[in-house]
Amino acid sequence: MSGAFIVFEGADGAGKSTLCERISEELRGRGKDAVLTAEPTHEGIGAFIRSGSAGEISQRTEALLFVADRNDHTEWIQEQVSQGKIVLCDRYFASTVAYQSARLDGDASEMDWLIRINDEFIDIPDAIILLDIDPEVGMGRVGTRGEEISKFERLDFQKQVRSNYLYLAEQYGFDVVDASMTRDEVFKKAMEIIEAVIQ
Ligand code: TMP
Repeated sequence: MSGAFIVFEGADGAGKSTLCERISEELRGRGKDAVLTAEPTHEGIGAFIRSGSAGEISQRTEALLFVADRNDHTEWIQEQVSQGKIVLCDRYFASTVAYQSARLDGDASEMDWLIRINDEFIDIPDAIILLDIDPEVGMGRVGTRGEEISKFERLDFQKQVRSNYLYLAEQYGFDVVDASMTRDEVFKKAMEIIEAVIQ
């Protein structure tokens, strides 16, 4: 059985995490060996990023930390795929390009730099599903999650993130799914994309 590497991307509140879990359950129900993972990871450098212990660091240093976490994670992903597993990954390199570029004011040369620093350390996913959502709707969802609003979740910032994602989607051929549809419709669309690559 050959494995697959599927990535889910989207601005905050797009519904990625819930969708990933549902897809993972669906695939397991069909007898597939699906594993769910996310970035930043919850180990090593990923856990360090999530803990906020890095303190006052520059935006570029923060971007390098995300990539360093990804380097170790990619080795793990490759191992899983080589064992025939379907890896469902909640965020990957496009998150660094979309978010850190927005942190760096969306400057085109910064975006190029972010793409370059990722280049050597990533694996090309079999599919990248971008859940596209109007930030006003996405932010409403974040607000109802009852979590602390992080620095990544401000509206203007999310608008820039969305625009970066749509640019990347066009450049690299991501599968864009309208995340304002019902959960069932989004799930159906995502499953169609996945079915086409796991045959
Ligand atoms: P999460 O909400 O999907 O757990 O992601 C945590 C936050 O980290 C989210 O706001 C996006 C941000 N992030 C980046 O800024 N750059 C990255 O490379 C990744 C993977 C996440």
